[in-house]
Amino acid sequence: MKTYITTAIPYVNGAPHLGHAEDYLLADIFARFKRMRGDDVKFQVGTDEHGNKIEKKADELGVDVKKYVDENSKKFQDFISKLGVEYTDFIRTTDSDHEKRVKAIWEKLQDHIYKSNYEGWYCEGCERFVTDNEYKENDGVCPDHQKPYSHLSESNYYYRVSDFKDEIREKIESNELLILPEFRKNEILKLLDDTPDVSISRPKAHLKWGVDVPGDSDQVMYVWMDALSNYITVLGYPDKDISDFWPATVQVVGKDILRFHAILWPAILLGLGLPLPKTLLCHGFILSNGQKMSKSIGNVVDPTEVLEKHGLDAFRYYFSRHVDTFTDGDFTWDKFEDAYNNELANDYGNLVQRLSNLCKKSEIGKKFLEERKVLENGKFKNSWDSDDAEYKRLMDNFEFTKGIDYAWNKIQDVNKRIEDTKPWTVAKENPDEAKVLLASLVSDLLNANEMLKPFLPIAKKVDEIFTSDKIEPPKTPLFPKEFKKA
Ligand code: MSP
Repeated sequence: MKTYITTAIPYVNGAPHLGHAEDYLLADIFARFKRMRGDDVKFQVGTDEHGNKIEKKADELGVDVKKYVDENSKKFQDFISKLGVEYTDFIRTTDSDHEKRVKAIWEKLQDHIYKSNYEGWYCEGCERFVTDNEYKENDGVCPDHQKPYSHLSESNYYYRVSDFKDEIREKIESNELLILPEFRKNEILKLLDDTPDVSISRPKAHLKWGVDVPGDSDQVMYVWMDALSNYITVLGYPDKDISDFWPATVQVVGKDILRFHAILWPAILLGLGLPLPKTLLCHGFILSNGQKMSKSIGNVVDPTEVLEKHGLDAFRYYFSRHVDTFTDGDFTWDKFEDAYNNELANDYGNLVQRLSNLCKKSEIGKKFLEERKVLENGKFKNSWDSDDAEYKRLMDNFEFTKGIDYAWNKIQDVNKRIEDTKPWTVAKENPDEAKVLLASLVSDLLNANEMLKPFLPIAKKVDEIFTSDKIEPPKTPLFPKEFKKA
């Protein structure tokens, strides 16, 4: 099966922060899961490089905008790799192919575009036009960015979203466009009624850093118009037939940008005569100690510090299991250290160490496991592939936190079985029986380990340990206990 997974493309007006990791991790978990099921997976990531706030930031720093976005885009690319994200395509909105294709998209949408004057409010942080009602409700200050809205009075092109509202409503209500979680779907349905036509350009007098509007040298495209299109320009639209991978299987976005993806984006797609994505997976925000991360509060956690000190698997484990897929999550060093010590090191790392030690002592290797039918053709026999419908159901429904919980319970079951059966005592009294017992414990561990693979790259290493000719315990523990609580 063909599977297409997309992630929001971050603005490059700063370095990647902890929150950015959420999109990539959720998408990568799903991509790894789907690849294990044999799907042909296309997985897009990228950077959003136009718009006011980027232009302004580069100006403030006195650097050339292109040079500035080049440097920052590279930082995101490095960050994504450090997270172990196995993407297939990296798109930048300043790529010439993308710019050319966005212009072609604009031209195709002509029938739904008109010119008018815009007089109203704008949030530069959100890069969003704000309605008068919102302005009043928020007392003129963006609640997400804590900055006063700017007043704009300019001549713009508009996209007639009203042409598509009924169709969008119908597709969302019927789950043809599935919005997860359910409460977000309801929020969008409420918002849809109040959504006016969207201004999709800015006069060059106010913004230069953008894609030129075809046929009007005084205007550049509104950054969201340009950015949303990345999901199809990366597939080659409109130069190429994209039906192999479009509609996307899932588009992963944060809660602050769901409205663009659930209203404007579907309106653009319908204007182009393209089908809507199958699922919009909306995640919450990562907080730090229960608060929004902010430089002024001083609670910003640097993701590279977490990654460099404690490794990729610890990072991915924490965000998979301790940050709920659909709601806001919290990062504190305390919680992270507890998860590392008590769960990764104790439950998983120790289990691998202990069981591989016991296997070594009892001289169990691949050959023996094969004889015991634990392994067949060098592959693990009772894999969930054939029999764990519940795990598959959770993962197919994007319930990743529940998926890893499910696998972890199985890890804990193996630990409990070791405690209950005491194979080291059996080994003294009846070595043959001990071997059989160990083979079944390895079987259970590898079963659970298989389910951990979408989350933890290290699970592949655990497989290798137990499926090599001679089982050798790792020289250093998989998760050395490194936190000493002060
Ligand atoms: N450039 C737009 C997205 C365009 S997609 C066609 C944008 N960029 S962003 O840098 O502000 O955000 C990128 C992604 O990071 C979004 O999905 C956003 O929700 C997510 N997050 C930003 N801060 C976050 C947290 N603190 N926690 C979790 N995700 C957050 O919006």
